[in-house]
Amino acid sequence: MKRSIAVVGTGRMGSALARALLAKGHRVTVWNRTKEKAEPLALLGANIAPSVLEAVSAAEIIIVNVSDYAATAAILRDADITSVLRGKLIVELTSGTPHGARAAAEWWAGHGASYLDGAIMATPDFIGTDAGTILVSGQGQAFRDNEEVFRALGGNVQHVGQDPGRANALDSALLSLMWGELFGALNAIAVCQAEEIDLGELGRQWTATAPVVEGLVSDLIKRTHAGRFASDDETLSSISAHYGAFQHLVELMDARGIDRSIVGGYDAIFQRAIAAGQLQGDFAALSQFLGKAA
Ligand SMILES: NC(=O)c1ccc[n+]([C@@H]2O[C@H](COP(=O)([O-])OP(=O)(O)OC[C@H]3O[C@@H](n4cnc5c(N)ncnc54)[C@H](OP(=O)(O)O)[C@@H]3O)[C@@H](O)[C@H]2O)c1
Repeated sequence: MKRSIAVVGTGRMGSALARALLAKGHRVTVWNRTKEKAEPLALLGANIAPSVLEAVSAAEIIIVNVSDYAATAAILRDADITSVLRGKLIVELTSGTPHGARAAAEWWAGHGASYLDGAIMATPDFIGTDAGTILVSGQGQAFRDNEEVFRALGGNVQHVGQDPGRANALDSALLSLMWGELFGALNAIAVCQAEEIDLGELGRQWTATAPVVEGLVSDLIKRTHAGRFASDDETLSSISAHYGAFQHLVELMDARGIDRSIVGGYDAIFQRAIAAGQLQGDFAALSQFLGKAA
């Protein structure tokens, strides 16, 4: 069933969301603070609303994608707008924290609106494609009732739990994984530059070794989930093996005067585990030294 949807915020991501909905034949009204950014969507069939109130009045579902939750609150938490939103579904796709999502869900429940909170695990070019991933949490029934709308946004849109904060929590976890690789790459670039290794060579060797790293990450998650921290027959590498290689890296970096900001945190975690007698443990044993502020 084609739905009447308002997209509030048509920056890079909001415009991609609106385009994907239009491509699937939904009736889309858009509003953006800077009207010019919404205008190209009119050529694709979107209705450009002159005010937020008009945008949300015309819609059954309100998808919000602005810079942060404070901007969403500034836009929607107005008495006139709030009264129009009663009985409607708000889908917050702006990035935020788990507690921010839970507070927003509670606030909207108190104002008679349904609320789902999503985390977009994709760049705008993935939106509307089979590989587009969006994690959505909150009222499962509201998600199921509007599944066709979510499917328009990406082939991999999943409801990940009733807790409205779950999608944002997973988002932060996955981003920390991504930054681990990106900041690790910055450190690798610094090492190659200091050692006069061509970065094209680094790129080629990374392509060759990336599957090994992916395997290690999956193994780490699986072993931590199972609580298998002691080294055993299936251990891929112990803390001791990693720590030895880590010391070589630090020695090289110190000799070349490379800043330790990125690897300093690794050292602190190794030291905690070693002080606790876990040097011979599986690498997964390190996960016990990070769960709460030590
Ligand atoms: N781009 C990505 O790859 C990506 C991926 C995942 C998640 N996200 C998330 O998607 C959200 C939007 O990102 P984006 O890349 O689309 O950013 P963007 O292009 O900078 O767009 C930001 C949007 O927020 C609006 N906005 C900001 N403050 C506002 C306020 N106080 N009142 C009204 N509107 C306000 C902007 O309006 P104006 O046009 O008037 O400035 C614009 O529509 C963010 O939460 C981001 O983390 C983005």
